[in-house]
Amino acid sequence: MSQIKIFDTTLRDGEQSPGVNLNQLEKLEIAKQLERFGVDRMEAGFPASSKGDFQAVKAIADTIKHTSVTGLARTVQSDIDIAWEALKGADEPCLHIFLATSPIHMTYKLKKTPDDVIETAVNMVSYARKKFPQVEWSAEDASRSDLSFLAQIIERVIDAGATVINLPDTVGYTTPKEYGSMFQFIRSSVPNIDRVTLSCHCHNDLGMAVANSIAAVENGATQVEGTINGIGERAGNASLEEIAVALKIRSDYYPYATNLNLQEIKRTSDMVAKLTGMYIQANKAVVGRNAFAHESGIHQDGVLKHASTYEIITPELVGVNANTLFLGKHSGRHAFKDKIKELGINVSEENIKKAFDLFKQLTDHKKEVTDDDIFTIVTEVQTDT
Ligand code: KIV
Ligand code: ZN
Repeated sequence: MSQIKIFDTTLRDGEQSPGVNLNQLEKLEIAKQLERFGVDRMEAGFPASSKGDFQAVKAIADTIKHTSVTGLARTVQSDIDIAWEALKGADEPCLHIFLATSPIHMTYKLKKTPDDVIETAVNMVSYARKKFPQVEWSAEDASRSDLSFLAQIIERVIDAGATVINLPDTVGYTTPKEYGSMFQFIRSSVPNIDRVTLSCHCHNDLGMAVANSIAAVENGATQVEGTINGIGERAGNASLEEIAVALKIRSDYYPYATNLNLQEIKRTSDMVAKLTGMYIQANKAVVGRNAFAHESGIHQDGVLKHASTYEIITPELVGVNANTLFLGKHSGRHAFKDKIKELGINVSEENIKKAFDLFKQLTDHKKEVTDDDIFTIVTEVQTDT
């Protein structure tokens, strides 16, 4: 098994979700939970972006001691200096700086030539290394960059002292095959690449962020960046809980291990949802309300006979107490009987049959039948006989 580092950016890229604004206490609460979850590095914020974010990053850097803490900066000296003031109390201060490398960004946004971009990146990485023991450099919009230019700038930035190279799919445009090939190309053509951690960072605009991240790992990435619940700019970032569970459940296929404590997934997800106000869709993989709920009679019968028939992930693995059998119009007799047993009511086979008929009539009018409904139905049947 090779070890993959997990870089969480819930408190930076995740907080860039429109409408999300976390205060210092909320950020600190999430940071402590991320430490319990076992991420290797957390990006606490963007210190130069506001006084509040500076204070929050500083509080996190001064408090969190078992996870490396990083902050984002543009490739300008003033941002790097501010980030140092916020992060210098961390056990291992780490800086994340970025500069775009794609023709679209260099021409329209930066208005710089490729040579200017190389010069700025090299100068700012070596400036940052005078303060920070760890410097991650991101080639923003890497997936739409020219590969030979990318290889050239990466080699120079590593020589300037970068310790992590990150190749983001900034606009969520790439496909698994294409993103994987980019990692393979960089691994095989940048001579000093083995001196650094090679990182992937995917956005979810086409719904491929998790698949793209795993493709990067299969092609030489040794760090995965993402957020809890996949929150982030526009359609969000790669969901760390989905990547972690996919690697675990398919460890027969993926020979990669992480330091994550998967049983903390549900708690972490609930906390992030509550504090950001970004509630999770019911059918979201791993942490959605329906991820461990079964409604159809055939599925419920199967799960009651043996959970593995329809569950590839056990609820306990991710910190969920138990699966739920949702009682609705597709449910069958087996789940109905199981619910009566769970409610502790003693009912004869004949009355179960009658109660089940009444339950089925009710499901034509009600989407979800509650425990109280079942109790009422069964009591009615018992009193009638
Ligand atoms: O998506 C992106 O390119 C980023 C950079 C700041 C790394 O978030
Ligand atoms: Zn991003």
